[in-house]
Amino acid sequence: MTNSSPHTSTDQAKTLRDLNPQPDSVSFQQEGNQSTSVYSITSGKGGVGKTAVVANLAYALTCKGKRVLILDADLGLANIDVVFGLTPEYNLNHFFSGEKELHDIIIDGPLSLKILPAGSGLQNFTRLASHHKIRLLNALDSMDDHFDFVLIDTEAGISENVTYFNTAAQEIIVVTTPEPTAITDAYALMKLLSTQYHEKKFNLVVNQIRTEEDALDVYRKLTMVSNRYLDISIDYLGSIPEDRQMVESIRKQKIISELTPESKISQAFKQLATRICTEPPQLTPKGNIQFFWNKLLNVEDNR
Ligand SMILES: Nc1ncnc2c1ncn2[C@@H]1O[C@H](COP(=O)(O)OP(=O)(O)OP(=O)(O)O)[C@@H](O)[C@H]1O
Ligand SMILES: [Mg+2]
Repeated sequence: MTNSSPHTSTDQAKTLRDLNPQPDSVSFQQEGNQSTSVYSITSGKGGVGKTAVVANLAYALTCKGKRVLILDADLGLANIDVVFGLTPEYNLNHFFSGEKELHDIIIDGPLSLKILPAGSGLQNFTRLASHHKIRLLNALDSMDDHFDFVLIDTEAGISENVTYFNTAAQEIIVVTTPEPTAITDAYALMKLLSTQYHEKKFNLVVNQIRTEEDALDVYRKLTMVSNRYLDISIDYLGSIPEDRQMVESIRKQKIISELTPESKISQAFKQLATRICTEPPQLTPKGNIQFFWNKLLNVEDNR
């Protein structure tokens, strides 16, 4: 079991969350249905650890027996395949150009993890055309494979692709580090998504922390400013410690959760996975077109 400090910090986080009320959400049991929870993992500033969070969170969910698909949506600088040491033959480039279908592109990661690679240097698709967006939505929706979770690794910033993937997901996870510029950019991203795209709920992961207090401090700062200026809620999902072994993991092209399963950082990813499993996203369509829209509607109909 984990030591007592994460529990204490979880309690602190809960207290902070209670201070920051969430919008009405539909209570929903994940068991016994075929719904897919779609999370986009995003950030204002680049290099804060989105890809690391996606890869390790997906792995941790897979270890829990969940069926997980990673969608690499960093169409300019994709590298999710690299962190897993994979060399895909095809990527989303081939899908968007009409040469391949999604099932031709999906590759196997560790355990039962599935990955939709983007391929590096997809300059053509740094701004997806509407017909590409619709094709992707339809293809995901009509996939035969069932996934419990789809994790979307977005590029950093506020490009049109980023806003598209964030609004098409059911839940948005904003990753930041305690660095002031990363926090400011996280705020700017949430501001844009809330004021221009009507996104009202965000989840926060603070990466590369030294102490849990660092993470809670970031959460406090962001909620304080957003409570004052924006009509949004931020749910604190958890934090990931800084770990020098990440360099080694990149060099070995093996994710850190596989390389050092007992380390503090791997435990933090497991906690994040547990949190996501125990608090599934609200399944009310957000009003915009979402991934797995049809499946979402079917679940709504069957309730
Ligand atoms: N918790 C951590 N401890 C130490 N190093 C980390 C941690 N998280 C990420 N890193 C390192 O930081 C660098 C950036 O991480 P990553 O590529 O995941 O960020 P990103 O947000 O996906 O970047 P980009 O915006 O370019 O897509 C990588 O070298 C990674 O190994
Ligand atoms: Mg990345």
